[in-house]
Amino acid sequence: MTTAKPIRIRPLLASATPLSTVAVQGWVRTVRRSKEVTFIELNDGSCFASLQLVCDTSIPAEILDQIATGAALHATGDLTPSPARGQRWELQVRSLELLGGADNSYPLQKKRHSLEFLRSVAHLRPRTNTFGAVFRMRSTLSFAVHRFFQERDFLYVQTPIITASDCEGAGELFRVTTLDPLSPPQGDNGIDWGADFFGEKTGLTVSGQLEGELFATAFGDIYTFGPTFRAENSNTSRHAAEFWMIEPEMAFADLAADCALAEDFLRELVTNTLNDCAEDLAFFDQRIEPGLIARLEALVCADFARMSYSEAIERLEKAPRNFQFPVAWGCDLQSEHERYLTEEVVGGPLFVTDYPEKIKAFYMRQNDDGRTVAAMDLLVPRVGELIGGSQREERLDLLSARMQKFGIAPESLDWYLDTRRFGSCPHAGFGLGFERLLMYVTGMENIRDVIPFPRTPGHARF
Ligand code: 4AD
Ligand code: MG
Repeated sequence: MTTAKPIRIRPLLASATPLSTVAVQGWVRTVRRSKEVTFIELNDGSCFASLQLVCDTSIPAEILDQIATGAALHATGDLTPSPARGQRWELQVRSLELLGGADNSYPLQKKRHSLEFLRSVAHLRPRTNTFGAVFRMRSTLSFAVHRFFQERDFLYVQTPIITASDCEGAGELFRVTTLDPLSPPQGDNGIDWGADFFGEKTGLTVSGQLEGELFATAFGDIYTFGPTFRAENSNTSRHAAEFWMIEPEMAFADLAADCALAEDFLRELVTNTLNDCAEDLAFFDQRIEPGLIARLEALVCADFARMSYSEAIERLEKAPRNFQFPVAWGCDLQSEHERYLTEEVVGGPLFVTDYPEKIKAFYMRQNDDGRTVAAMDLLVPRVGELIGGSQREERLDLLSARMQKFGIAPESLDWYLDTRRFGSCPHAGFGLGFERLLMYVTGMENIRDVIPFPRTPGHARF
C-alpha cells in the first residue's frame, strides 16, 4: 500500500508537468494485455477521459490476471507524457491494488450498449461514457440554475412536496395517505379523508407555484427548484412521473418581463453548458446529436421569436401538411404542432403567448379581449415545450370568478386569495422542466436518459 493521497483524474490530466508518485483510484473500463505490458483504462467519473495505466512486468502477474472491466483499483505511479495518440499523460504504475474485482458477468463489457438496455441496468449505467457525461452536465447545470438566480437576488424557497391543492387543476396528483387501502374509513360520500393523516385529502405536488406566489408577495423575486410529481399516464419520451422543476416568480412583473427572464435564463444556462461542459458536450456532438454544439451556439445569439396563440393557429391551419390532431382556435397545442412551429415556422426558440382562457390554469390573468389569458409557453426545436408560465390574475373578483368557472371552491384556497386581498400586485412567473432542458443541451431523446432513476408508468425500480 502507498501513502500518497489519491488525486482525481480530471486535475491529473490537466497537469502542466510530469508528476512522480501520484495515486489514483477508479473503475476499469478496459484492459489490454501483451507479453510485456498491460494497459488499463481507468475512469473515476471526474471527467469524460480515462487515465491510461501502464503496467510492466514489475507488477505481479497474480494481480494483473485478476483485473477486468468493472473492477475497482487503487494505483500509484508516475505521471509521464504518453506516446499514444489523443492523450497527453499516462501513469507508469509502480504499485497496484485490486479493491473490488468484477468477473465477466459484469453487464457493461466493452461494446456498444443500447440506451434501452442501459435503462435496465440503471444502477450501473453511471459508469458508462454516455451517462457519465449526462450526469456531470446535470450537476453542473443545477449549480448554474442557482447561480443565475442568486446573482439576480432571487430568494430560493423550498415549497412543500406534500400538498392539499392541485395547482394545475389537471387532476394528476399522486395520493398521499396512511389510510388502510383495504378498509378505509367511510363517510357520507365515500372515503372519509378527514380521518386521514393530514385531516384532508393530500397528494404530491404538481408545482410549487402557489406557495411561490406567497413568497413573491413578500420577497419580490423568488425561485423554487425541486421535485415535482404528475400521475399522468402518458408514456411519451418527454414525460416523467417525477421530474425537477425550476419556478421563478416575480412581483411587480408582467408577461413581457416574464418572457424576458425566461430568455435570459435559457441563454445563460446554454452559455454555461458551452463554457463548463466542453468535453462532455463534444461527446454528445459526436455520438448523440451531430451539430449540437453549433445549435447551442446559435441559440446564445438568437432572437427568441414571439407569436400569439391565435397567430400560431393560423400558421398551423395553413401548414402544408396533415397533423394527426386537427387544429382549430380553442384547441390545446399538441406536441406535433409545437414542434412544427418551433422547428419549421421559426427554426429556433419561440414564445407562444395569449392562449384561450378555457385551456389554461385558473390562476392566469385574463386579457382585455375576454377570451384569452396572459400565458406563455417557450417552445424549442426537438423538445417542444420547455417552459410554461404566465402573468397571474391579481384582481380578486376576476380570480374568484375564474376559480368558480373551474369548479374550485374559493374557500379551499382562501390563503392564496389573501394575497389578492392584502397588497395585491401584478406578478408573473414560469416553470422550466429541468429534464427537458437537459434533453435540449445533451441531444438525448428520452427523458428516461437524463434523470438518474426515472419514474414512469410501470417503472419505479432502483
Ligand atoms: O406547463 P407546466 O404544467 O406549468 C406549471 O406547472 C406552472 N405552475 C409553472 C409556473 O408558472 N410556475 O409545467 C412547466 C414545465 C413544462 O413546460 C415542462 O418543461 C415541464 O414543466 N413538465 C414536465 N417535465 C417532465 N415530465 C412531465 N410530466 C412534465 N410536465 C411538465
Ligand atoms: Mg405547460
